[in-house]
Amino acid sequence: MKVKSLFLDIIGTSQVTRRRKLAIKNASSTPDGKDNISDTANFLHPGKQLVKLVSVKEVSNRKRLTFKSVDKPLPYFKPGQFMTLELNLSETCLTRPFLISSSPEETKGNEGIIEIDLIRDDEDEFLMHLYHEAQVEDIFQAEIPLGQFFYEPLRDSSHIIAIANNRGISSYLSMAKEIKNGHLDLSLTILYLEEKIEPSLIEEIKNHHLDQVDIIPCSTKDYKDILKPFIQEDCSYFISGEEEFVLPIKKELLSYPIKERRIRLQITSLRKDIASLKDYPIDLINKEFTIKVHRGIRVDEIRAKASESLATALEKAGMKIHTACRCGYCGVCRIKILEGEYYINPDNDHRRIADKDFAYVHACATYPLSDMSIRMNIPDSF
Ligand code: FES
Repeated sequence: MKVKSLFLDIIGTSQVTRRRKLAIKNASSTPDGKDNISDTANFLHPGKQLVKLVSVKEVSNRKRLTFKSVDKPLPYFKPGQFMTLELNLSETCLTRPFLISSSPEETKGNEGIIEIDLIRDDEDEFLMHLYHEAQVEDIFQAEIPLGQFFYEPLRDSSHIIAIANNRGISSYLSMAKEIKNGHLDLSLTILYLEEKIEPSLIEEIKNHHLDQVDIIPCSTKDYKDILKPFIQEDCSYFISGEEEFVLPIKKELLSYPIKERRIRLQITSLRKDIASLKDYPIDLINKEFTIKVHRGIRVDEIRAKASESLATALEKAGMKIHTACRCGYCGVCRIKILEGEYYINPDNDHRRIADKDFAYVHACATYPLSDMSIRMNIPDSF
């Protein structure tokens, strides 16, 4: 809006109501039928969609899965975001998040693709199934895009120290590609903290021949010494990997005069040895409990191990629960505790204050410590 002068502006605003009434009077009585704002919102956030696996490639110790859309165009995403895939295994519907390793540019057009990198995890039934059984032409339900781990110029410095191990590095691959495409204006110094370095990944990032992107492989053991020369006030720090990788590095960074808002986290999975977490009652770790699950007027009982999250227990019992990050961050899996004791890692509790006061929890990061009653406001299918 252009400010002209006090007098002209007062006259101008006094015309608004009259002009609006005139426009409404002269408008057609036939509904337009178009809703550009909703169309744009639906395009950017299409919710669930079907994707088809079109290629499976071995890249070092990982498999790169390439998908194309089946039912609607692939949405735009920001480098660093993730997608989820859904799989029906033994009458159970499971969902897992996967970091996107392709760039947003590659999703464009009818031939648009989106890629994820799979790393073996013998303890995860979903991952193992996908790793060994996924075939070209398989169709999956996907949710794209998700997550807050991306460069935001209003919030972040344009010099990012990007820290990751093998599990978290895909996000930076996506960022490097987008920098090369000319759509991301930042400099990226990747500290690749890993004992099992994957040389082809380093090659892939270096192959972009970018002045703005550097990758430095180094050992996880010496991470405190490695970080020291990179401590600068005008940088943002992105950390991506499992909980046990990310949280100690965050703690180390905060021991320097670095503002917390300069640190962004992407937790790819929660730690499995919850018994080692702060204040966890270790004598309960092998126990199993009964959980009463209230859904509308229906009440079911399931069994849940103390060592598994409530989301996992629900899935194992064949109850569908909407999840996204599966690391306690996004709140998609929020449920209400009606009764019973539970454990949430205090270092990774991202609930709102009101949720804490009214006993709402994120089911993917909450572990039962007694028999419980919970209420899910999530319908069976969504
Ligand atoms: S799925 Fe994100 S908090 Fe549980």
